[in-house]
Amino acid sequence: MPRGRPWDCRSRLRSRSAVTLPTGRDEAAPTPAEAVSAKVASVQPVGGETAGQPVAIESFLAELVVFREAAAAALDGVADSAGLEQARIEFLGARSGRLKAIQKLLSGLALADRPAGGRHFNEAKGAVTALFAAVADRLAAGGAAGATAAAIDVTLPGEPVRLGHVHPITQTIRRVQEIMARLGFESVDGPEVEDQWHNFEALAIPAEHPARDPLDNFYLAVARGSDPLLLRSQTSTVQIRVMENRQPPLRIVSLGRVYRPDTADATHYPMFHQVEGLLIERGTTMAHLKSVLRQLASSFLGGDVHVRFRPSFFPFTEPSVEFDMEWGGRWIEMGGAGMVDPAVLAAVGYDPEDVSGFAFGLGVERIAARRYGVADIRDFYRNDVRFLRQF
Ligand code: DAH
Repeated sequence: MPRGRPWDCRSRLRSRSAVTLPTGRDEAAPTPAEAVSAKVASVQPVGGETAGQPVAIESFLAELVVFREAAAAALDGVADSAGLEQARIEFLGARSGRLKAIQKLLSGLALADRPAGGRHFNEAKGAVTALFAAVADRLAAGGAAGATAAAIDVTLPGEPVRLGHVHPITQTIRRVQEIMARLGFESVDGPEVEDQWHNFEALAIPAEHPARDPLDNFYLAVARGSDPLLLRSQTSTVQIRVMENRQPPLRIVSLGRVYRPDTADATHYPMFHQVEGLLIERGTTMAHLKSVLRQLASSFLGGDVHVRFRPSFFPFTEPSVEFDMEWGGRWIEMGGAGMVDPAVLAAVGYDPEDVSGFAFGLGVERIAARRYGVADIRDFYRNDVRFLRQF
């Protein structure tokens, strides 16, 4: 218990105390527990006056001090609910508790002293009642008295559990998938280890094409027969895999990792992610392509984003374009796109006279960097939580 309580003037007051418990019991027969507590109380009689007899205010206040002190001391030693109940009966018992006895003295105070006496009485009653409640809480929380209560301080703040969250690149992938789903594009996956057919040939990239140079690709030491395998260098492979297995109409989007032996710098990394979109239907035009890209850009970046096409070349689209988005007052290069080359449609067994379509591809890191204002894409892979925590 804390020492030096505000009512610690007890020694001075106690010496002047001459008040005793009323002797006449005018109440119904006590319960066994109250009988015990009455016995305890009688060991330390409070005074000799009977109710109604004059009581000096000093004596009255001294009684309150003794009461508070004794209650606090008794509660200090309480170790279980039975002990607590016993102490409650002794100090706060409605029939013959020590507080009740002091209450009876109130009527003996001079009229002028009664308001002050009442106030002190209520104060003492409130304080001791609160002490009882605190001990009851402590016992309910499983803490025993003394040592255990001191060892476990239930008022200390807990240790915060740090929750992780989804990586900004994964967040970006999910966001693009969500936007494209609203436009009717189904999300599909493809393998990261690819063969020559899916990564190059079916996409009209012939054997002599510089894109197949071993220095520009991660060829694996293992091969499938005489067919070299490689880590895919683009997600356009998924276009072929889907078209080989399904019939048009088709709307798919595929987001995943691709690999190129680039030296890592602020805008390059040997592994990065691409978004691949493909739509095959009757009567598709470049206007459809442009409006889909514009919808994607506007939803992803927010606001009304304009899209611009610049003529370009990709082996698997004809015509081919590079597309830019106007964002923050600047035109920003986003990726490549075009109408799927009839040679590609024929390679997967489609009739180019019957169906047409468009395809587009863009870098996930690039759009994530734009959106979040990240200047160096290597930051996405440093796994520094101080950086990652911001998204
Ligand atoms: N695969 C191309 C690249 O990695 C990007 C691309 C361009 C994808 C045009 C497409 C497309 O689907 O139509 O550079």
